[in-house]
Amino acid sequence: MLHKACLNTLPMVQTFDHNDFFSRRCIWVNGPVIVGAGPSGLAVAAGLKEQGVPFIILERANCIASLWKNRTYDRLKLHLPKQFCQLPNFPFPEDFPEYLNKYQFISYLESYAKNFGINPQFNETVQSAKYDETFGLWRVKTIRTSSSFCPCEIEYICRWLVVATGENAEKVVPEFEGLEEFGGHVMHTCDYKSGEAYRAKSVLVVGCGNSGMEVSLDLCNYKASPSMVVRSSVHVLPREVFGKSTFEVAASLMKRMPLWMVDKILVILACLLLGNVEKYGLKRPSTGPLQLKNTEGKTPVLDVGALQKIRSGKIKVVPGIKRFSQGRVELVNGNILEIDSVILATGYRSNVPSWLKENEFFSKDGIPRNPFPNGWKGNAGLYAVGFTRKGLSGASLDAISVSHDIAKSWKEETKQKKKTMAARHRRCISHF
Ligand SMILES: Cc1cc2nc3c(=O)[nH]c(=O)nc-3n(C[C@H](O)[C@H](O)[C@H](O)COP(=O)(O)OP(=O)(O)OC[C@H]3O[C@@H](n4cnc5c(N)ncnc54)[C@H](O)[C@@H]3O)c2cc1C
Ligand SMILES: NC(=O)c1ccc[n+]([C@@H]2O[C@H](COP(=O)([O-])OP(=O)(O)OC[C@H]3O[C@@H](n4cnc5c(N)ncnc54)[C@H](OP(=O)(O)O)[C@@H]3O)[C@@H](O)[C@H]2O)c1
Repeated sequence: MLHKACLNTLPMVQTFDHNDFFSRRCIWVNGPVIVGAGPSGLAVAAGLKEQGVPFIILERANCIASLWKNRTYDRLKLHLPKQFCQLPNFPFPEDFPEYLNKYQFISYLESYAKNFGINPQFNETVQSAKYDETFGLWRVKTIRTSSSFCPCEIEYICRWLVVATGENAEKVVPEFEGLEEFGGHVMHTCDYKSGEAYRAKSVLVVGCGNSGMEVSLDLCNYKASPSMVVRSSVHVLPREVFGKSTFEVAASLMKRMPLWMVDKILVILACLLLGNVEKYGLKRPSTGPLQLKNTEGKTPVLDVGALQKIRSGKIKVVPGIKRFSQGRVELVNGNILEIDSVILATGYRSNVPSWLKENEFFSKDGIPRNPFPNGWKGNAGLYAVGFTRKGLSGASLDAISVSHDIAKSWKEETKQKKKTMAARHRRCISHF
């Protein structure tokens, strides 16, 4: 049962109840509402703080960086060197290694939020956001849940809305024939922590993106026997090329040559350094790795050791799934595997279409229609951060553009409001 009265008054906002306009208690935000307290939301918030713009961050989880804290496995390390993962205006501590582990990254994000005094509204899930053309304002409806109160509905009213809910907001769980008969343990990688529970077990890992590869590697390290499903194709690249990060090499080549040429070079380097991976069942897509990422959002795998386990046969590569039955899976080539558990490394998706009532700026997949670097600004004060398909570095660039743009219009509007107030004040005085 919803309880509409359990409303806390927030700093820098006024609350009001206006029955002819709103059907519930509302909070007027003198600045933008940011949805999501992951790296993208925090980076925009920091930019706004620095420019003196008030804001509110709404976060469905009970902490910042919930993806990193709650939905990643223990062995996770950032794939890119630290200079590409830093958020604006706050460097990593000097003693951090080149490739951070997830705990280091989380501690950095905690320090980031603390340094800029960012205090999100936790346990608050945005249910819908709609632009009210009559009033020229965004109406953002949330459900606030917390252990001490019953859930309550709140409506935020604001001029600017920043969508920072991430490209990976929800797990993708495909349907498989017979999975309900399987009987063994089935989980998505977002719930996987380590291979400890899988010692000596046969595990089917569905998917061969970075999650599928790294979870398979982790399972091997815990003496489990993973079979990894590769239903189509995948680009596997070395994490480093001649001592430099592959990402860095690609970024510097991109400054000098067209994308297709960089893609060709990357594939040649991958073949030279990793050998022919197709003979292990890892067919390369015909489209180059960067092109594929840009057009379909499919991330190339940066190898951190899984390939060596595939070569040695510790990770078996198997084709697509036909159906499950009790304790077994039948593959599209007719082979049948006896398995104990299934781990779905089947990826993630944006959840924007489920709550943002808008269909011009965002596509039906919940990603801005305009590709990077033009996908951060929509109409009527709508912004997006972290949907560039360029990970943390793309999120940082978006955050800088968004916070500057909002600060500019917030300052102009505030100045205008002050002028209007002063004029009203003068009229009042002359009236008396
Ligand atoms: C396993 C894994 C490893 C990764 N490793 C890397 C890496 O090494 N380098 C890299 O650049 N990228 C990596 N990524 C991609 C990663 O998602 C982003 O780089 C980064 O987390 C993006 O930050 P974000 O703030 O845009 O999104 P998120 O971190 O997903 O944050 C979005 C926030 O919005 C909140 N939210 C969602 N919906 C709502 C709602 N309706 N109401 C309120 N709050 C909501 C979520 O709870 C979340 O806290 C990885 C992703 C995964 C899944
Ligand atoms: N260390 C790191 O930095 C790190 C680690 C993990 C993840 N990440 C990032 O997190 C994001 C998500 O990665 P991810 O690996 O979780 O997801 P992903 O890259 O989207 O990969 C999903 C995989 O699941 C497969 N799949 C989906 N449905 C399937 C089905 N029905 N049957 C068989 N296979 C199916 C896909 O195959 P198809 O290609 O055929 O669709 C693909 O191989 C990426 O940006 C990634 O780079 C980073």
